[in-house]
Amino acid sequence: MIKLTKSYMTGEGSGQLLYETIGTCFDRVVTQHPGNPALIVRHQGVRWSYQELKRQVDRLATGLLALGIERGDRVGVWGPNSYEWVVYDLALLDLEVTVVALALSVGGIVEIVPLFYMKSTMEHNAYPEVVWQRAEGQTLDDWQPGDGIRPYKALELAGRDVYQREGCYLCHSQMIRPFRDEWLRYGHYSLAAESKYDHPFQWGSKRTGPDLARVGGKYSDDWHRKHLRAPRSVVPESVMPNYPWLKDSLVDGATIQAHMRGMQMIGVPYTDADIEAAAAEVEGKTEEDAMVAYLQVLGTMAKLDESKAYRE
Ligand code: HEC
Repeated sequence: MIKLTKSYMTGEGSGQLLYETIGTCFDRVVTQHPGNPALIVRHQGVRWSYQELKRQVDRLATGLLALGIERGDRVGVWGPNSYEWVVYDLALLDLEVTVVALALSVGGIVEIVPLFYMKSTMEHNAYPEVVWQRAEGQTLDDWQPGDGIRPYKALELAGRDVYQREGCYLCHSQMIRPFRDEWLRYGHYSLAAESKYDHPFQWGSKRTGPDLARVGGKYSDDWHRKHLRAPRSVVPESVMPNYPWLKDSLVDGATIQAHMRGMQMIGVPYTDADIEAAAAEVEGKTEEDAMVAYLQVLGTMAKLDESKAYRE
């Protein structure tokens, strides 16, 4: 245990502490590199050099002084991800005002506030092809991959139930965020409409294992079976638990019919014929069959077009 005797501590490494405040450091960098890029915020069209950033900071600091804010005051800053954050931070530091960043809420704000500015949060209002338009008399088996989001077939829904029962969501999210690295790794970012018939949705942010939103079709059924029974037989370094019992327990037809009826009541467009047929569809199937059916359909329902801005 290290005994702290100062208000700061240096960790291991060869870098030296600057022994200056952020305000002094900022001023020094502005003098040394006035033309260098300091702040780039793409969604606000901001691209400022240190000189420009300093000008904005001084302008805000003057305004804050005029409002009567003084050295030693505490100012809470609450807002979404924007250039204003940086300018406020530096201006308040300049005035030696304590910045109380309401940071815990920022995550939520960043996610929630933009929704207020969107005409519609469900992409299929603008892009109806995202959702499968079932014609009169068609069954769920008439649907082809890419036709659009549809309710889960009986076996898939049973797999989804097992997914929740076994707590797979504790390690796996099903929500690809709109960042380049996620896009490259997992594919097109998730749309809200893709979870339209999910009760409850499986978004989440806990990723001990990879996101599964588009895992459908990535591996063979056989791979999934091996992986579920003994993950380390296919991925030696895996920390995922074994689920060997899924291959030995059968899906119950009456249970899945009751579940579909419940879904129908809360708005999932199952027809009575879908529910009628469900028991025969899951007859003799194991929970492992159900899980594989569910995993293989994830992300395959809608064909998303990279050139469309679904979230505008
Ligand atoms: C303790 C955390 C944990 C739990 C619980 C867990 N997994 Fe995993 N899962 C992982 C990790 C880590 C990986 C990556 C290594 C591997 O492929 O085994 C993974 C990988 C996977 C993959 C392959 C994904 C890909 O893109 O390569 C699938 C599919 C999967 N898990 C399904 C499930 C299912 C279904 C359940 C529940 C029955 C489950 N997992 C439960 C941690 C977990």
